[in-house]
Amino acid sequence: MSQLKTRLTEKLGLGAPILSAPMAFAAGGALAAAVSRAGGLGLIGGGYGDNGWLEEQFALAGGAPVGVGFITWSLRKSPALLTDVLRHRPVAVMLSFGDPRPFVDEIHQAGALVICQCQDIGHVMDAVDAGADIVVAQGAEAGGHGARRGTMTLVPEAADFLATHAPDMLLVAAGGIADGRGLAASLILGADGVLLGTRFWASQEALVHKAHHEALVEAFGDDTLRTEIADIARQIAWPRGFTARIYRNAFTNRWHGKESALRAAIDTEGPSYRRAFAAGDPENTGVWFGEAAGLIHAIEPAARIVDEICDQAENALNARAFGRRHRERGKN
Ligand SMILES: Cc1cc2nc3c(=O)[nH]c(=O)nc-3n(C[C@H](O)[C@H](O)[C@H](O)COP(=O)(O)O)c2cc1C
Repeated sequence: MSQLKTRLTEKLGLGAPILSAPMAFAAGGALAAAVSRAGGLGLIGGGYGDNGWLEEQFALAGGAPVGVGFITWSLRKSPALLTDVLRHRPVAVMLSFGDPRPFVDEIHQAGALVICQCQDIGHVMDAVDAGADIVVAQGAEAGGHGARRGTMTLVPEAADFLATHAPDMLLVAAGGIADGRGLAASLILGADGVLLGTRFWASQEALVHKAHHEALVEAFGDDTLRTEIADIARQIAWPRGFTARIYRNAFTNRWHGKESALRAAIDTEGPSYRRAFAAGDPENTGVWFGEAAGLIHAIEPAARIVDEICDQAENALNARAFGRRHRERGKN
């Protein structure tokens, strides 16, 4: 277990200040349980909500202390999903992309923590107002859905806002963090921990096709873009302001910037997107990962990822403290 102690590890009783993101379709019970057993907190990707799938994934988690996440605007359409999932006694429920207020009381009454993922300071204000326990400040480097702010400025700005307005609320950084340098930097920016999506998407336990994993290992951070075309092709109507970061490939080269044409061709392009996704074709569908791809060179077990990131962060932070002590001694 890591020596990194933060308010997050204390409040949640964790051995590592690391959360795995509730990635729709990719983060199942096996991944969440592996992260939790390694000392972090794993979140099952409730996504748009499928009761049968969620039941299976909680069973696969095998009683490990895991949480779950939902896409908030979608959950509003079928709120009974939340009631069903709370029967599994998740440690926490993460709500992203929409107003969390309608769900907070029910989650708290079930004894779970509320995590709100925020893409700007307006969202952080909403999370404070809603009575969330943990805020995730998500920068636009992130894989999957997100918005415009960068992690580097959003995290310290959220830290400053919370220090003044909600000092007990914990802050977690997300977006482009994939190694110990990112964890150490996030702690220095004022976060209590990190939430990682892309790095755990690239784990052995993630529900990801082998060819998509291979595409990530080969990719640089430059090889992703934020776009609406994956949602257009899947015919999922996302609220304005959110786009998805995906791999730059033949699909994005063909359709990004030609959104109206894609909508017009949806009768053929919709099924073709879905077929290519199911087949693991890395070129003709959305391949969901973020800029952190450029920092990832192997598909590893989730537990090893947790351990490595903690070791690297401890070394980075110790080296920094050593450098400071060294300089201070030099002055005296
Ligand atoms: C494949 C994938 C699917 C995602 N699905 C969701 C989701 O269903 N709900 C959610 O709140 N966030 C989702 N996210 C975003 C993550 O919660 C998180 O903010 C992001 O992965 C952090 O940035 P990183 O990918 O650079 O680690 C997804 C991310 C990825 C990569």
